[in-house]
Amino acid sequence: MEDILKVKDLSVALKTQDGISRILDKITFNLKKGETLGVVGESGCGKSMLASAIIGLISDPLKVDDGSVLFEGEELIGLPEKRLREYRGKKIAMIFQDPMTSLNPIMKCGKQLVETILAHEKVSKKDAIARSLDLISQVGLDNPKEIYNKIPAQLSGGQRQRIVIAMALCCSPDLIICDEPTTALDVVIQKQILILIKKLVRESGASCIFISHDMGVVANMADNVMVMYAGQVVEYADIKSVFRSPAHPYSKALQASLPQNVEEKERLNEMKGSVPMLDNLPAGCLFEPRCPMADWRCSTNRPELKNVHGHYRRCFKKPEELTV
Ligand SMILES: Nc1ncnc2c1ncn2[C@@H]1O[C@H](COP(=O)(O)OP(=O)(O)O)[C@@H](O)[C@H]1O
Ligand SMILES: [Mg+2]
Repeated sequence: MEDILKVKDLSVALKTQDGISRILDKITFNLKKGETLGVVGESGCGKSMLASAIIGLISDPLKVDDGSVLFEGEELIGLPEKRLREYRGKKIAMIFQDPMTSLNPIMKCGKQLVETILAHEKVSKKDAIARSLDLISQVGLDNPKEIYNKIPAQLSGGQRQRIVIAMALCCSPDLIICDEPTTALDVVIQKQILILIKKLVRESGASCIFISHDMGVVANMADNVMVMYAGQVVEYADIKSVFRSPAHPYSKALQASLPQNVEEKERLNEMKGSVPMLDNLPAGCLFEPRCPMADWRCSTNRPELKNVHGHYRRCFKKPEELTV
C-alpha cells in the first residue's frame, strides 16, 4: 500500500523572552492508506502539537522550524492558509476531545452537517440532507430525523461526539485525526465510541492518527504505535511489538501502569515524577530523571532514535536489559 502521509523531521519551536525551546523534535513517520497510527504519551508530551503541526494550525509564538509533511504527495508546510483550509475538514478530518470545539452550540445538528457537506462538495441541498440523515444513522443514533432537528445542547456527551464523528465523515476524508476523542466521556460510552470509530475508519478505508494518553486504548485501535515523551519519539513500531516487547523504559512504564497491570493495593507500578518542563530539560536523555535504569551515560548524553529491524527506539540500554 502507498504512503498517504510522510512526516519527516517535523519540529515545532516556541520563542519566548528567555530563548527558544523545542516542543516537537524531529518527528518522523509514514502512514499507509487504510492504516491507523496510535500516538501515545502522558499529557504535555506534544501529541496535540503534532496534530496541529500536521494540519497547519501552528501560529506565533509557535513555529514549525524544521521538517516536512507530505500529504498525498503535496507539501503542507508553508502552504497558504487558504489551501490548508481546503484540506481541513475535507481530505483531513479532526475529532477532538471536546465535541463542542467542532460544533456550533446553537445550530441544529442536521443543519451543521448539511452546511459542511455543501461547503466542500457540489451537491444539491436535497442530496446533502439525505446524506446527513444517513450519516446520523451510520454513527449509531436512532431516530435520525429527531436528532437532525436538535441543537448540540439537547444531546448527551456521547451523542454529541457521534455527531462530531458524522461531521468528520461528511466529506469522505482520506485521513482522520482523532485527538483523545473519548477522554471526556464516561467508560461505557468511551467503549461504544471507540468501537464506532474503529468500524467507520475501517469501512471508509481512510487512514487514521489516533492520539491517546492511554496505551490500552491505543492498543485496540492502531496498527502501529508511536510513543512520545517530551516532544520526542522514544519508540515506534507495529503495535504487537510495542505491546509484547516494549523496548523503551517509558513505554514499559506506560504499560505497567495500565489498570489491568496494577494491583489495587500496591500501586507500585505507577510512574513517579512528571514530563520535564521545556525550558528546563535534562542534559542527557529526557526520560533519565524518571528512569529506574538510568546510569551515568543517560544523564550526560542524549540517545538518538535508532532503527533495529523496523523497531525504532531511543535508549542506550539494550532491550533485553530493560527490567522495569
Ligand atoms: N499554544 C501554546 N503555546 C506555548 N506552548 C504550548 C502551546 N500549546 C502547548 N504548549 C506546550 O507544548 C507542550 C506539548 O503540549 P500538547 O501538545 O498539548 O501535549 P499533549 O497533547 O501530549 O498533552 C506542552 O509543554 C505545552 O505546555
Ligand atoms: Mg493533547
